[in-house]
Amino acid sequence: MSTHLFEPVTLGELRLANRIVMAPMTRNRATAEGVPTAIMRDHYAQRAEAGLIVAEGSWPSAAGQAYCRQPGIVTNAQIDGWRRVTDAVHARGGLIVLQVMHGGRIGSRHIKPPGVGTVAPSALQAAGEVFTDSAGMQPFDHPRELGADEIEAVVREHRCAALNARAAGFDGVELHGTSGYLPMQFLSSGSNRRTDRYGGDAAARSRFAFECLAAMADAIGAGRVGLRLNPGNTYNDTFDEDSAATHAELMRQAASLQLAYLHVMRAPVPEIDAFALARQHFGARLILNDGFGIDSAEQALAQRQGEAVSFARHFIGNPDLVRRWRSGQALSKFDRKLLYTPGAAGYSDYPSLS
Ligand SMILES: Cc1cc2nc3c(=O)[nH]c(=O)nc-3n(C[C@H](O)[C@H](O)[C@H](O)COP(=O)(O)O)c2cc1C
Repeated sequence: MSTHLFEPVTLGELRLANRIVMAPMTRNRATAEGVPTAIMRDHYAQRAEAGLIVAEGSWPSAAGQAYCRQPGIVTNAQIDGWRRVTDAVHARGGLIVLQVMHGGRIGSRHIKPPGVGTVAPSALQAAGEVFTDSAGMQPFDHPRELGADEIEAVVREHRCAALNARAAGFDGVELHGTSGYLPMQFLSSGSNRRTDRYGGDAAARSRFAFECLAAMADAIGAGRVGLRLNPGNTYNDTFDEDSAATHAELMRQAASLQLAYLHVMRAPVPEIDAFALARQHFGARLILNDGFGIDSAEQALAQRQGEAVSFARHFIGNPDLVRRWRSGQALSKFDRKLLYTPGAAGYSDYPSLS
């Protein structure tokens, strides 16, 4: 029987009732304008027993939208829609933060409003395609390089996103620093060829993510801001000449801000021990992720590798995951075909056992 997962833990200003975190999952259930819907309210409320929910990657500006029906945290309608989600989660005793995700070069003009371009640290197109509702699969746009003054504006958008998230009732925010989106595009030598203060060595390539974190922390308090990282990640055509060293640098910079937590994913390559790297360069307040089950999570906590563990896929088909684990019940599977489709099917219609 688990002895650690069900214990409370405090991460910055966030007081988790247990150490089972719901990891962020893009599910494309918002409106075409990025407004959260009633089924999103139901989906998150059903999962409110998690010690903390990290709600799906949401854009801080129209240029940052990567996917169809992905929510934003910009307009009044989006803030109102999210408010209905956070109210429902809080009514059930839950805690919820919003992942802020700027897609950068991972985007298509077929997804964004007319005239909104795709931007990146350097004008380098990512290899790959993205699904669009209007034109099917499309290659990622060829991005335009951000000017130095524009970078300042994007940092301000992150600050606004944090303020808007609080206005929408979120308990905090998490910066999406993985999977080849904008912060990781700056971080990685393969997508950042800049020669100004945002490009060059690892310290300079970390600057954009650091400035976003600092702006968010200044706006809502560092104890309500988290960061997600995945050293060694190559998703979305990401390449870095020395991912461990680069991440160690950003972890040290982030540690200086006294953030609520670092949400660190296991490295996909054996040479990098991401949890040890995070422990060494960020310190405590780690949420561990990727591929955990109840036993391996329990073991990781017993070994003090982190303070909490997050789960994504287990939460899809098991809204009552925490209760199932508490009572030793079997887990249900989910339907892959319904991961990103509109509507309640395969999203907010998975039953709880009790
Ligand atoms: C459908 C789906 C959507 C995801 N969307 C996001 C996302 O928006 N942001 C993010 O940081 N990770 C995202 N992930 C990654 C998960 O948060 C998690 O890191 C991954 O699934 C591994 O955890 P697990 O083994 O517990 O599933 C997504 C994963 C899935 C399956």
